[in-house]
Amino acid sequence: MSVPHPRHTVALIPGDGIGPEIAASIKEIFAAAHVPVDFEEHDAGLACYERTGSTLPATTLEAIKNHRVALKGPTTTPLGGGHKSVNVTIRKSLELYANVRPSKSLPSVKTRFDNVDLIIVRENIEDTYAGIEHWQSPEVCQCLRLITRPGCEAIHRYAFEMARSVGRKRVTCVHKSNIMKLTDGLFLDVFREVAAHYPDIQADDILIDNLCMQLVVRPEKFDVLVLPNLFGDIASDLCAGLVGGLGVAPGGNIGDGIAVFEAVHGSAPDIAGKDMANPTALLLSAVQMLYYMGLNYHAVHIESALRYALIEGVRTADLGGNARTREFTKAVVASLPKNVPEDAADFAPGSLYGGGEGKPKPAPAPARVNEPMTVRGVDIFVQSDKDLPKIPEAVGRLKLDFKSNRGQKVWPGPLPSARLVDLYRCRYTAPAGSPGVTDAEIAEIQTAVGKVHAWSHLEKLLEQGGKAMYSKAHGD
Ligand code: NAI
Repeated sequence: MSVPHPRHTVALIPGDGIGPEIAASIKEIFAAAHVPVDFEEHDAGLACYERTGSTLPATTLEAIKNHRVALKGPTTTPLGGGHKSVNVTIRKSLELYANVRPSKSLPSVKTRFDNVDLIIVRENIEDTYAGIEHWQSPEVCQCLRLITRPGCEAIHRYAFEMARSVGRKRVTCVHKSNIMKLTDGLFLDVFREVAAHYPDIQADDILIDNLCMQLVVRPEKFDVLVLPNLFGDIASDLCAGLVGGLGVAPGGNIGDGIAVFEAVHGSAPDIAGKDMANPTALLLSAVQMLYYMGLNYHAVHIESALRYALIEGVRTADLGGNARTREFTKAVVASLPKNVPEDAADFAPGSLYGGGEGKPKPAPAPARVNEPMTVRGVDIFVQSDKDLPKIPEAVGRLKLDFKSNRGQKVWPGPLPSARLVDLYRCRYTAPAGSPGVTDAEIAEIQTAVGKVHAWSHLEKLLEQGGKAMYSKAHGD
């Protein structure tokens, strides 16, 4: 028996390949479970592109904005032509800054561990995924890694709010601040600032390499993990592997008051249309969505029915069984009204994914007065394909401090036995405590250096409260 509940409309994007088959499975299970959700179907992906010339029509994006919640099947990215991934476009245009991927062991899904129960909260917008890349010289290509204070505040506040709302006890910040002292240093510093507002939740941190080792040895140690985008991307697939692979891995992309839930796997063109797809990942994403919407009762029953079907041994081919998609769906439906397994208590509202009364709410942004920054100097990146670039050792009051190649100081002092490439970073600074460097002085350096070598780009060296806001070269 279902509990009466006001009806909700959710945008459903079936997507490509196996997408329509697994979306049909979810619709069937929702209808049988009397979930008070009406799906409004919208197009995106390759088939949509072939029909309309767009992989993500404006009407689809508008529907997500209007309904505030969407469930998305996998979409195929058209090859060639520089098409942007539909997922990335949705995340960026709707500022869905948190990618939330729960990994919990499932019954009868054979893996090395049977006690995994963790949630990955991955920052979803920034890091190297800003996609700002440039060739600097014939030998050197660069990708900008952007980590921002507002981005860190948003993801860490979300992680703690979610942990609190679903009764989790510990949040671990994952980083590499021993190497990327400024960017990951900021991610960790803001984590500690935010953690101070959540004394009820244990906060600690771990280096990404150590995390990977520990995850494949003792994954049960971890509770909620919060990571920058790239580390989070990799670690979340690793965690999917711990509980049975991409076929069972759900995920949600969450912003302030808006969310898109999707299976982690792709459109699986190799099995599309063959009634072989495993709908579990999309079904668990739909369960995650129900928790998010506060429809815990339905979430608990559907999730329990799924687990019961698995306990009964109904498995699709990817999990070593022989059930077809439709059979699997029927087995879940058959488990729905009764047969709630004894461990249903594990799935008490909000205990697994979040949602319900304790739906994470973004805390108001802290009032911040940014201290002014002064320019202490400039790094100019100079092309030279043979030797150390011969550039002036002083321009006006700015002195040349060092030249580095691939981050390693190569001047002054003996040339290290490093493989040299055709781009050198050359640092000019004004004396400590002297007035800030002006744009006119930087232009003088550009002109002076440009007379002898081509330069690729410049980075101003900023100081705040006397502290250098830039990295040194190795060996400096
Ligand atoms: P894929 O995840 O589609 O397939 C990899 C392997 O896993 C295949 O052997 C496939 O049969 C199997 N598989 C995946 N999901 C399954 C399921 N639910 N049940 C049973 N078996 C399943 O990855 P692939 O082949 O690299 O990508 C295919 C297309 O999907 C590409 O165009 C890619 O761009 C797109 N893609 C879309 C994603 C999304 O929309 N979220 C995510 C990843 C890829």
